Amino acid sequence: MAQRIDGKLISQQIKDELKEEVKRLEAQGRHACLAVVQVGDDPASTVYVRNKKKACAYIGIESRAYELPESTTEEELVKLVEDLNADVSVNGILVQLPLPEHIDEDRIIRTISPDKDVDGFHPVSVGRLWIGEKGFLSCTPAGIIQLLKRSEISIEGKECVIIGRSNIVGKPMAALMLRENATVTVAHSRTKNLKEIAKRADILIVAVGKERLITADYVKEGAVVIDVGMHRDADNHLCGDVDFDSVEPAVSAITPVPGGVGPMTIAMLMNNCVETIR
Ligand code: GUN
Repeated sequence: MAQRIDGKLISQQIKDELKEEVKRLEAQGRHACLAVVQVGDDPASTVYVRNKKKACAYIGIESRAYELPESTTEEELVKLVEDLNADVSVNGILVQLPLPEHIDEDRIIRTISPDKDVDGFHPVSVGRLWIGEKGFLSCTPAGIIQLLKRSEISIEGKECVIIGRSNIVGKPMAALMLRENATVTVAHSRTKNLKEIAKRADILIVAVGKERLITADYVKEGAVVIDVGMHRDADNHLCGDVDFDSVEPAVSAITPVPGGVGPMTIAMLMNNCVETIR
């Protein structure tokens, strides 16, 4: 039987550990405050932002919400981020993505001070990650490392294949697995022989954004499979990039969707917020 890696349980453990740590830090007079900026009212973003604020409240981190209209200009948003950079009472800044079309997302990400970049998206944070310097880690990949470690799955020396090369998952995931001494391959939409490459993996991490793309014939017997995808299928069921029912019998461990990687992202965001006052 494959081990089901329970992201809901592990994220709750992390949040409980952080809550205790925040209590101790508060007692020493250290206080964390996260600024959460949302522009417009994309419904998915509204849900994410609400969950981030709830997680802050649970752990004991102050959150300050900045809800700006869709019509906000790039200059106005830059000004707000600069003000938050300068505000010593704000430790972390999160600008919820995606931003409206008329705002240059990269410019906004670069405007956030790397010292307050709790998403780990700033080029300085990315550079620090790749050279092994201390800095904020991208939340979803950091969450996947925690899932593996807390499930007692060893990473060192393993063949890790990552499918997907996005800036927020695939690339930082590769850097983190490398840091953990895995042998890393990054596959993507132009990769030839994807099946053969995926089958080499001891640890297969899938972040391609294609519903149930990965079936049993992509997976080595006994592999560990981590599914970063999240889709709603034609029957209105949530599913991932991995065809869970076909893959599960062949593997040693697998993350479900929902309840696998998803809950870890916010837990690691909270960890980054606490990191600002450690
Ligand atoms: N939109 C979707 N995921 C994320 C995330 O991790 N951080 C931010 N800021 N926006 C997102």
